[in-house]
Amino acid sequence: MWYRELIEVRSQHLNRLYFVKLGGSLITDKSKPYTPRINIIKQLADEVKKGILKKDKLIIGHGGGSFPHVSASKYKTHLGFIDYKSREGMTIVHLDATRLNMIIVEELVKKKISVFPIHPSSISLSKNSEIKKMFVDSIKTLLEYNIIPVVYGDVGIDLEKGCCILSTEEIFRFLALELKKYYKPFIVMCELVDGVYTKDPLRNLDAELIPEISKYNIDDVRKYLSSSYGVDVTGGMKHKVEKLYELAQHDINSVITSCMKKGNLEKILKGEKVDGTFIRY
Ligand code: IPE
Repeated sequence: MWYRELIEVRSQHLNRLYFVKLGGSLITDKSKPYTPRINIIKQLADEVKKGILKKDKLIIGHGGGSFPHVSASKYKTHLGFIDYKSREGMTIVHLDATRLNMIIVEELVKKKISVFPIHPSSISLSKNSEIKKMFVDSIKTLLEYNIIPVVYGDVGIDLEKGCCILSTEEIFRFLALELKKYYKPFIVMCELVDGVYTKDPLRNLDAELIPEISKYNIDDVRKYLSSSYGVDVTGGMKHKVEKLYELAQHDINSVITSCMKKGNLEKILKGEKVDGTFIRY
C-alpha cells in the first residue's frame, strides 16, 4: 500500500523528504542507564549510507532511550518547573540527551555521511509540550546543501510550565508540517517492535500486528493503546500513533517498523516494501 503512495509522489514533482526516527529502545539498552547499542547504531548508519537515493532528502531524529529517560523521570521534567530541583533537572536531561546525540552523529560521520546535529531545545519554543515556534531555516538550508540534520528527543523551553519534554515525534510533526511546502515528507519510525499491536507484544504472545491505521480503525487502535503499552515520559506507543495520525490528516504518511531486522531501513529508503504498521488518513 505505501509503495503505491511513493509512486503517487513522483508524479507531483516534489522531492521526497524522509524523516527517520531511530527509536530510543532500539539504539540503547533501556534496562541499563546510559548504554548505547553500538552495533545496532553502526548497522543503521550503514543502511542509511546504502539506502538513501541522491534525489531524496533525509532528516534523522533519534529517541533518548536509557540516556535522558532516567533523569527525565527523576526530575519529572515533562511536568515543568514543579520544585526547586526542576531547573537543574532541565539542564541535566538536556545534557543526557545530547550525549547520545554525539554518539549517533559520530557513528554517522565514521561512515562518511554528511550530517549535522541540531539541538531542538535551542531552536524552539513550546507551550504545554507542543512546539509553537522553531527556527526551521537552518534545517532547510542544511537540506539544500545535502547535509542530513540530526535532531533528537530533547528538553523544551515551555511558555506555560517552564520546561517540557519534546519527543522526536513532536519535533517531526512540527518540521514535517513546515517543510511540506518544499518537499513531500514520509515518516519512518525504526523501532524495536514490528509496528503497532493489539496488545503489548513484549508481554503478550497473542498480540496481533495491525498492518494499517487509518480513519477506518483509529478508534479501535486508540482502545488497544490506552491500556496495553508501557508508558515513558513521552507516552510510549499511544503518543507516537496520535502524532503520526495527526500528520496523516495533513497527507503526510508514515510507517512504524522493526529495524532490529537487518535491511529494513535500507529497503524503505529505496522505496521497497517492509512489514510494519502503515499510517494514513
Ligand atoms: C525522549 O525522546 C527525550 C527525553 C526524555 C529527553 P523520545 O520520546 O523521542 O525518545 P524514545 O524513543 O521514547 O526513547
